[in-house]
Amino acid sequence: MSPTKKSLFLGSFVHCKSLDELETRHDAAVFVDEHGVIVAIEQDMDLQRAKDTLIPQMGWVEGEYAVHMAKKGEFFFPGFIDTHIHAPQFPNAGIFGKSTLLDWLLKYTFPMESSLANLSKAQMVYNRCVKRTLSHGTTTASYYATIHVPATNLLADLCLSIGQRAFIGRCCMDSDMSPDTYRDESPQQAIEATKATISHISSIDPSYSLVSPILTPRFAPSCSSELMTSLGALHKETDLPIQTHISENVGELALVKQLFPDIKDYTSVYDSFSLLTRKTILAHAIHLSDDEIALIKERKAKISHCPCSNSSITSGTCKVRQLLDNGIDIGLGTDMSGGYSPSILEALRQAVLVSRHVAMGGDDNTKLSIEEVLYLATRGGAKVVNLEDKIGGFDVGKEWDAQLIGFGADISDEEGATDEINQMDESPVDMFGWETWDDRIAKWVYNGDDRNTLAVWVKGRLVHEIRK
Ligand code: GUN
Ligand code: FE
Repeated sequence: MSPTKKSLFLGSFVHCKSLDELETRHDAAVFVDEHGVIVAIEQDMDLQRAKDTLIPQMGWVEGEYAVHMAKKGEFFFPGFIDTHIHAPQFPNAGIFGKSTLLDWLLKYTFPMESSLANLSKAQMVYNRCVKRTLSHGTTTASYYATIHVPATNLLADLCLSIGQRAFIGRCCMDSDMSPDTYRDESPQQAIEATKATISHISSIDPSYSLVSPILTPRFAPSCSSELMTSLGALHKETDLPIQTHISENVGELALVKQLFPDIKDYTSVYDSFSLLTRKTILAHAIHLSDDEIALIKERKAKISHCPCSNSSITSGTCKVRQLLDNGIDIGLGTDMSGGYSPSILEALRQAVLVSRHVAMGGDDNTKLSIEEVLYLATRGGAKVVNLEDKIGGFDVGKEWDAQLIGFGADISDEEGATDEINQMDESPVDMFGWETWDDRIAKWVYNGDDRNTLAVWVKGRLVHEIRK
């Protein structure tokens, strides 16, 4: 694994300017310092011009900086932000049969998570999960781990050493909804365990520059009122972020009504325990009432849209346009293994397709565009994890979390064939024959996979590369 070095990136850069606007720059240069921070972005640059102008001005010395050049047709794109993923469920990706949430948890999920009490197994699963998600361009992940403190701490260690930006949630679940073999013994014990992981992460990354703890009440049916009260108090004391699930499945809604009969609705349950805050990530948010949407907006809580999971375990269709129109911050989550794929590119596609299904209900405005889903996966996700000052786009002052996207014939037969076909044109419309840059990005979104993710950087450090 390479250490962080000063780096110069040259070529084409694509990022989201706003929800519906992509910005593409060609012949540009991005200068990243030894702390992984973007210090300059310049237009009309190649290596020679950079060496003649900015490099000496900045006092950079030959040999002390790395140069990464995108070839013609390749481009740098901000790293993806997975705002909701379960690392211990990695071995279950693709296994859900015809189950729905509550039976899926009992049949597949709790047994797998429980088995990660075995630290060697946890090491193998977490190592693969972190490397695999990085290979798909996920530079930041908000992880749920399990109830086990040693395994959860190990996930934090791995993210720090492999180099993925991460939020690590030691999963809290003390109610008898969970099996006796996999649950917290008491609210006090759950809080002690949560504090043990917080103090471990504080010892390995004191300023949470790459890895941060996140308070993780699994979801309301898994947690006693005492536990949720204590977690709300812990948030007040520490200002740490919070993640949980909300309004995913109709059976779950009925259970919440039964468990908290005096509280108006699901959103108010979290609110009444001081868990609905500007630092709260709510996954799914499918079956919300207008009042709940208004309360989420008022508290500035965030939503993780998990379309692949919502379709896989048949939870429902999230009305993303309605949430966006209400001004709520939304990001994308794989929710692996509720979702079958660890890839945010897959989540992008599913977000587009689900929005088509919502549109078939009669409102064409609900369709999400390529630009919009790319925004949700980058800048939108950055807002959801409260890191919009640090990540999500290519701006001076932000950190270099990025992926290099390419389409060589050696990488993907289909895309390679496209390039060959385009080169056969006698009078190409532009540099890709008939294709515009927008077409090229659409082809990546709909047909791309980890073979197109040639290299990945987090905080300026090269953390994944396809062997040339
Ligand atoms: N609700 C409570 N636990 C889970 C989980 O692990 N995955 C999903 N999708 N929903 C949940
Ligand atoms: Fe989940």
